[in-house]
Amino acid sequence: MSLLAFEILLVLLLALPNLLCSTNSTASQLDRQADMLLRWKSSLDDPMSYGCLETWSNRTSPCSWAGITCSATVTHGHGRSDAAQVVTNISLPEYLPQGTLEHLHFADLSQLSFLDLSYNNFSGSISPSIGSIPPSIGSLMRLKSLNVMNNEMTGSIPGSIGDLTRLELLDLSFNHITGSIPPSIGKLIRLKSFNVTNNQITGAIPGIIGNLTSLELLDLSGNKIINFIPGSIGNLTMLEVLDLSSNEIIGFIPGCIGNLTRLKLLHLTFNRITGSIPSQIGKFWSLSILRMSDNLFTGPILQEIGNCLELYEMDLSRNNLSGAIPKTFANLYQLHILNLSFNSLSGPFEDTFTPFVNTRVSLDHSMDICGDSKTVIDNDVYEKCDVYSFGVVSMEVVMEDGMAATSGLNKEEALTSQ
Ligand SMILES: *[C@@H]1O[C@H](CO)[C@@H](O)[C@H](O)[C@H]1NC(C)=O
Ligand SMILES: *[C@@H]1O[C@H](CO)[C@@H](O)[C@H](O)[C@H]1NC(C)=O
Ligand SMILES: *[C@@H]1O[C@H](CO)[C@@H](O)[C@H](O)[C@H]1NC(C)=O
Ligand SMILES: *[C@@H]1O[C@H](CO)[C@@H](O)[C@H](O)[C@H]1NC(C)=O
Ligand SMILES: *[C@@H]1O[C@H](CO)[C@@H](O)[C@H](O)[C@H]1NC(C)=O
Ligand SMILES: *[C@@H]1O[C@H](CO)[C@@H](O)[C@H](O)[C@H]1NC(C)=O
Ligand SMILES: *[C@@H]1O[C@H](CO)[C@@H](O)[C@H](O)[C@H]1NC(C)=O
Ligand SMILES: *[C@@H]1O[C@H](CO)[C@@H](O)[C@H](O)[C@H]1NC(C)=O
Ligand SMILES: *[C@@H]1O[C@H](CO)[C@@H](O)[C@H](O)[C@H]1NC(C)=O
Ligand SMILES: *[C@@H]1O[C@H](CO)[C@@H](O)[C@H](O)[C@H]1NC(C)=O
Repeated sequence: MSLLAFEILLVLLLALPNLLCSTNSTASQLDRQADMLLRWKSSLDDPMSYGCLETWSNRTSPCSWAGITCSATVTHGHGRSDAAQVVTNISLPEYLPQGTLEHLHFADLSQLSFLDLSYNNFSGSISPSIGSIPPSIGSLMRLKSLNVMNNEMTGSIPGSIGDLTRLELLDLSFNHITGSIPPSIGKLIRLKSFNVTNNQITGAIPGIIGNLTSLELLDLSGNKIINFIPGSIGNLTMLEVLDLSSNEIIGFIPGCIGNLTRLKLLHLTFNRITGSIPSQIGKFWSLSILRMSDNLFTGPILQEIGNCLELYEMDLSRNNLSGAIPKTFANLYQLHILNLSFNSLSGPFEDTFTPFVNTRVSLDHSMDICGDSKTVIDNDVYEKCDVYSFGVVSMEVVMEDGMAATSGLNKEEALTSQ
């Protein structure tokens, strides 16, 4: 064979895969997806739990399998367009297969927009990489929704998550995910819901979180997150739910939190946040739940809280708040749960505050709130903290042991009204 012939042959051989590839149709893409999904199925090591995966077989199109949805995709080849089915949605919540995502080869699922594997039992007990969110997840470029909540996933959130720029929902809650939130999260500018509650995430909230201006829900609760709430949080003006409870967050609440005027739920319980409760909370006109107990808040409860007319629950217990309860509480007609216990509040429980019938009010261990002083109304002598002086007939006053702080209460009335 001449050298030239050999070179031609070599060029042909090298080109051969490319020639074959150029004849790829999306139909063969579906075949590849079917093969891969079947390999994944056979990697799940508990046949008894296949149940719903019975329909997954090589005799039928994957588009007919349980939990799989396909959509037509159009590819433009050399002068022709092909429309073919590809897998776009894998939805297998509560299937309880045991295994890993290792063989769920994301590179073959580039058209996937929806992945729900929540409430399963995927774990990482076989090899170190197993069970972690595989780094290759960055190849699901079209993914809008990634839900693996309630599994046994380990490992950290891979930096490649930032490549899923179409992501709107990211729910990794109730797993064993470690490591910190990667800064690449800042690229997910379409993210509306980010829920990683109940994992073991460490490190600080990255300042770049302020880039996620579409966020409506941010739940980082139940992790080991440290350090300050970044000021950039003021950028998240669409936020309706902010839950940072049960972490190790310190420092002040940044004043720019006042930007989050759509907040309905603000939950900061069980941290070590210091300083005063910012008056900016008075801008949260839609706020219905405010839970800030078990922190190190000091200073008075500012009257601005009386602007939160939708407030249903306010729990400021176990801080070191001082001063009187502001008169503006009288505006809080929706308030059903009020817990101010274990603070250093003083002064009378304002007689302008008229809680709803069946409001649960807990004031115990707040020193001096009831005091000893008596009030005289229509020649009757009332204790300052007498339930009648609130202008309420039926109010459940919840008392615990250590009655010193509630010494002014008409205990008999408090008990009989329960
Ligand atoms: C054909 O499929 C392979 C993967 O199997 C891919 O790498 C290649 O880009 C595809 N070629 C075309 C022209 O779609
Ligand atoms: C289909 O799957 C069965 C086992 O599940 C296997 O024995 C058979 O070879 C497969 N057929 C093809 C065409 O891959
Ligand atoms: C994906 O499939 C599930 C179950 O069929 C369905 O509930 C969900 O709405 C689908 N999601 C999308 C984005 O089509
Ligand atoms: C989940 O997996 C664990 C082992 O990793 C096993 O003990 C448990 O029974 C499994 N639960 C279900 C519901 O399959
Ligand atoms: C986050 O997800 C969990 C379920 O895994 C849910 O209970 C919780 O309510 C979600 N957080 C918010 C703020 O909705
Ligand atoms: C922040 O968001 C902008 C788009 O609003 C984007 O161009 C930029 O890359 C993001 N920055 C980071 C660090 O992710
Ligand atoms: C606030 O959001 C804008 C995009 O709306 C972005 O350009 C900016 O970098 C963000 N600021 C912070 C501190 O994240
Ligand atoms: C408050 O939100 C606006 C956008 O609505 C933004 O321009 C501004 O920088 C935000 N302020 C802070 C302190 O984040
Ligand atoms: C609570 O605050 C008061 C001052 O208002 C201070 O004297 C006291 O030491 C604080 N208690 C705690 C437990 O921090
Ligand atoms: C009020 O808060 C205290 C301390 O956090 C707690 O022990 C008590 O159960 C709460 N009371 C009500 C009625 O929830």
